[in-house]
Amino acid sequence: MEERIVTTKKLEEDKFEATIRPDSLDEYIGQEEIKENLSVFMKAAKMRNESLDHVLLYGPPGLGKTTLAYIIAHEMDGEIKTVSGPSIEKSGDLAAVLSTLELGDVLFIDEIHRIPRYIEEILYSAMEDFSLDIIVGSDSTSRNIKIDLPPFTLVGATTRAGDLTGPLRDRFGIVFKLKYYTVEELTKIVKRTSKVLDCPIDDDAAIELATRSRGTPRIANRLFKRVRDYALVMGNGYINLEITKLALDRLKVDSLGLDETDYHFLKAIIEKFNGGPVGIEAIASSIGEEQTTIEDVYEPYLLQIGLLKRTPRGRMVTEKAYEHLKIKSQETLF
Ligand code: ADE
Repeated sequence: MEERIVTTKKLEEDKFEATIRPDSLDEYIGQEEIKENLSVFMKAAKMRNESLDHVLLYGPPGLGKTTLAYIIAHEMDGEIKTVSGPSIEKSGDLAAVLSTLELGDVLFIDEIHRIPRYIEEILYSAMEDFSLDIIVGSDSTSRNIKIDLPPFTLVGATTRAGDLTGPLRDRFGIVFKLKYYTVEELTKIVKRTSKVLDCPIDDDAAIELATRSRGTPRIANRLFKRVRDYALVMGNGYINLEITKLALDRLKVDSLGLDETDYHFLKAIIEKFNGGPVGIEAIASSIGEEQTTIEDVYEPYLLQIGLLKRTPRGRMVTEKAYEHLKIKSQETLF
């Protein structure tokens, strides 16, 4: 299937995220509670001359977990070493990164819930005692060796805190849940991106773009680039409201940020299950999608904006969704 323009998945084209990423907490927009707390914890760790406690960041993809990890490393004057859970296949893979750590470094593990369980145990002593316990040799010659690690900060990111094992979760002193951004916050992010990329955008156009970005900076930044293309080719390079609306309509991103996949999903519940309540298994088989994809990708934003509700008897489409779909059905999408 073609990738959705509003997907929260990191795409090849999102590599530019790294170039526009803020590197201090002051520049980071939104997630106010996290910023306030984190700033105190970082200051305290510095005053004590200690490494910052391990930090777990969880929440939907695209909300800035990686960005926060980079900011922590920068503000704590350390280097960041990055790995992702699925890339750690053998205990040696983890030992290899752990042994490169220096005092005050940040080890960022993205999708930390996907580290194989037996490898995860190596993290326990690394996190707790800054020691790396590994077995060397084989069979009769094998022995345990213990290597001291410098104090470091593990920053773990996951979309679902519930998928972490208890022992791993318990080893994080600091746990933050990232929330979807408000339109105001996303507007500021869009304006910031516009400055960084040196590509001006009108205020009303920035608001329009923000409104259609599903509370997610990654989507806002990706849409910004596409709108910039339309402005260059079809306008004079300047991003105004008209070109923004035109571009987003062409990209089939509606006024709430919904695309055809969302319509397909909501309409399936309405047409096949009379709006619900309906169990997730039934929806999954009716639209031919995996249950976890529905839970992690389709649903979070629809729940957030109140088009979908979870009830004890299953998912239900809300009145707001009926209204929104009906309005749209007379417009461009259908
Ligand atoms: N880019 C992505 N997320 C951001 C944020 N929260 N603040 C500023 N720039 C960002």
